[in-house]
Amino acid sequence: MTVNLKGRSFLTLMDYSPEEIRYLLDLAAKLKKDRAAGVFGDSLRGRNVLLLFEKTSTRTRSAFEVGATQEGGSVTFLDNRNSQFGKKESIEDSAKVFGRIYDAIEYRGFEQSVVEDLAKHSGVPVYNGLTDVDHPTQILADLMTLEEHIDKPLGDMKVVFCGDTRNNMSYAWMYGCAKMGMTFVAYGPPELAPDQAVLDRVAPVCAQTGAKVTFSSDIADIAGADAVYTDIWASMGEEAQIPDRVKLLSPYKVTDGLLEATGNPDVLFMHCLPAFHDFETEMARGQYELGYDIREVTDEVFRSARSVVFDEAENRMHTIKAVMVATIGR
Ligand code: CP
Ligand code: NVA
Repeated sequence: MTVNLKGRSFLTLMDYSPEEIRYLLDLAAKLKKDRAAGVFGDSLRGRNVLLLFEKTSTRTRSAFEVGATQEGGSVTFLDNRNSQFGKKESIEDSAKVFGRIYDAIEYRGFEQSVVEDLAKHSGVPVYNGLTDVDHPTQILADLMTLEEHIDKPLGDMKVVFCGDTRNNMSYAWMYGCAKMGMTFVAYGPPELAPDQAVLDRVAPVCAQTGAKVTFSSDIADIAGADAVYTDIWASMGEEAQIPDRVKLLSPYKVTDGLLEATGNPDVLFMHCLPAFHDFETEMARGQYELGYDIREVTDEVFRSARSVVFDEAENRMHTIKAVMVATIGR
């Protein structure tokens, strides 16, 4: 089957078939190899991509900017403080304007309906750079990282997501694992269990691919994990919930002991970043002074040989470049 993604949006992995995800991962691996050899394409020459951010970003923005530039394209960065977006005109009107000017739009913000509306009204591919309920470009980078480090097919791998299992990363993992036939355990407190609607959404995909996606608060269920993944306990916009989250999630902090409970001496530690693993940041220090230790992973684990977090960060660029090349490349 030939895969052709020209003109497609990338709003969630649920919209993509396993073959299409495979195609993006293979393209990313090729682009990574080319870059290491100093070979850069020009498939995005003359292409202009809008980067629209309603939440902050380090990796995603950098990946889009450098990825587009390396392929000969250009980007415009807009946020909601320095544009009319979301304030003085409807999303529909903004989308129509962007569609007249840009070849594609990356959006990071709150509701998933905004990326959907941008795609509906702009007429150009829209890329989800993170919403409250999904982060599909991160999963592409993470799948690529797993394949680089573990010598078996994705379909034979087990990923455990530890922490706030109702967040965008946990849901994005459920979609990615369901599509690629993987085993996924969302491991966290019952109070932060995934929405049943999300589990119901992936169930028919799992039935097709042989994936297993489950929620558990029982540490026995992390046994056999190939990778343990975590994320900050209070996502962007949820900072007021830090006291509650620390109470609920402290038992799920990723420690050497937790990794040992997987029974896999080679288990990888993964994190989308940014991470709280020490008190070097103003936020972690400030919260600690208020009595809240918000570190979701110990410094030892974060800096250990099994931590592949910076490979994931680098792979954001190769995978995001692949998404742009596949959808709007010449
Ligand atoms: N992982 C990730 O999306 O990082 P940024 O928030 O820095 O873009
Ligand atoms: N769950 C985090 C992911 C950051 C990449 C957040 O939404 O803030």
